[in-house]
Amino acid sequence: MIERKFTRIQTELPGPKSAAVFATKAEYVAAPLETYAPFIIKQAQGAIIEDLDGNRFLDFSGGWGCLAVGQRNERVVAALKDQIDGYLHTDFTAVPYAPFIELAKLLCEHTAIDGPRKAAFFNSGAEAVENAVKIARAYTKRKAILVFENAFHGRTLLAMTMTHKAKPYKYGFGPFASDVYRLPYPYEYRNSITAEDIERSLLTLVDPSEVAVMVVEPVIGEGGFLVPPAWFLPAMRRLADKYGFVLALDEVQSGIGRTGKFFAFEHFDVQPDLICVAKSLGSGIPLSGVVGKAKIMDAPIGSAIGGTYAGNPLACRAAIEVIRTIDEDNLLAQATHVGDRIKSHFQRLATKYDVIGDVRGIGAMVAMELVTDRQTKEPATELTGKIATAALRNGAIFPTAGLQGNVLRVLVSFVITDEEIDEGMRILEAAFESVLG
Ligand SMILES: Cc1ncc(COP(=O)(O)O)c(C=O)c1O
Repeated sequence: MIERKFTRIQTELPGPKSAAVFATKAEYVAAPLETYAPFIIKQAQGAIIEDLDGNRFLDFSGGWGCLAVGQRNERVVAALKDQIDGYLHTDFTAVPYAPFIELAKLLCEHTAIDGPRKAAFFNSGAEAVENAVKIARAYTKRKAILVFENAFHGRTLLAMTMTHKAKPYKYGFGPFASDVYRLPYPYEYRNSITAEDIERSLLTLVDPSEVAVMVVEPVIGEGGFLVPPAWFLPAMRRLADKYGFVLALDEVQSGIGRTGKFFAFEHFDVQPDLICVAKSLGSGIPLSGVVGKAKIMDAPIGSAIGGTYAGNPLACRAAIEVIRTIDEDNLLAQATHVGDRIKSHFQRLATKYDVIGDVRGIGAMVAMELVTDRQTKEPATELTGKIATAALRNGAIFPTAGLQGNVLRVLVSFVITDEEIDEGMRILEAAFESVLG
């Protein structure tokens, strides 16, 4: 029996009310929109989700990393209600509004790069990545894009091309965009590479004088929570300077406090040119942005970037409160605390279960990699899925990651309490027990 206070499983999953909604989904929602949880949400608060049938779950997926300040954060909700009473939409480039500009200022102030900075807002992470590439191309007047192994950048044509994993993200969707070149990313648990290896790869793939931008995740997210060694990002900065291209960081998953600093790059001795943000910025309201050096951000001609809903006022109001909450509630320290506590639970589990090959992470971005054998490091893909499913059915939602799907990761809200973490870990441990028998 799992000792429970926050979670509750009182029906089969899906329960009858959820099952009825799933039946309608099967009939009317396009099949590729597969869903992970075997229940339909009714309401949520903090890190807890309740379904239509009264079951309660601890959500370690945090809306896939969008809910740093928690579900329905009080300040975010109050700002949204206030905004609804004012106006909903204009298109910023038609009739401008102050929250867009206020957010740009706040984001620039939180971006630890030297010199003048500017920001632009969009809707999704993929759009932020696409726009960072457009801005870099306009600035350099070059076309080639450098990306990395294990990268995930989104699902639009260019972002999908830049993404590494073929299935499911690219399967059947070619032809892809041109001028995208993939370099090795340091994956310390599996392969060790050097800066020279990366430069050699670059020089064999493309003439560096044609490279507009290198887009890199400072900590790899979907591709398996890979924290690079200290030399990596400074070395990429040196390559960018040597060959005259833009260094753009995709902080869609790692940014907005996730690693215990506002941006993950602050852990490393590096100054990027552009940074892509999304996910937790809008706290569930679609919002993304590119922030970076003013002279690069200003490079495209007037009206060349934007979009009807880009930086919608509701999203900007939410984001302003997200950033203020992170500052005023000391959530960077809290993200580190949450991550440390989860990591020590993972390390304890690793002493018990040989299938846990590696425990890694930074701040609240913590993961374990599962292998069938610690010597051969054969990815335990099926087992990882079974353990995640067992935990989910028992009340704790853990997303998986990695090119082989054998990484169990945490993208939890920073507002989760110690007691909630511990209960989630008891559920995870019970999942290991039940699957490994
Ligand atoms: C690093 C990174 N970049 C880009 C994206 C794409 O973001 P979106 O799904 O909002 O387009 C994601 C989404 O998971 C991501 O993790």
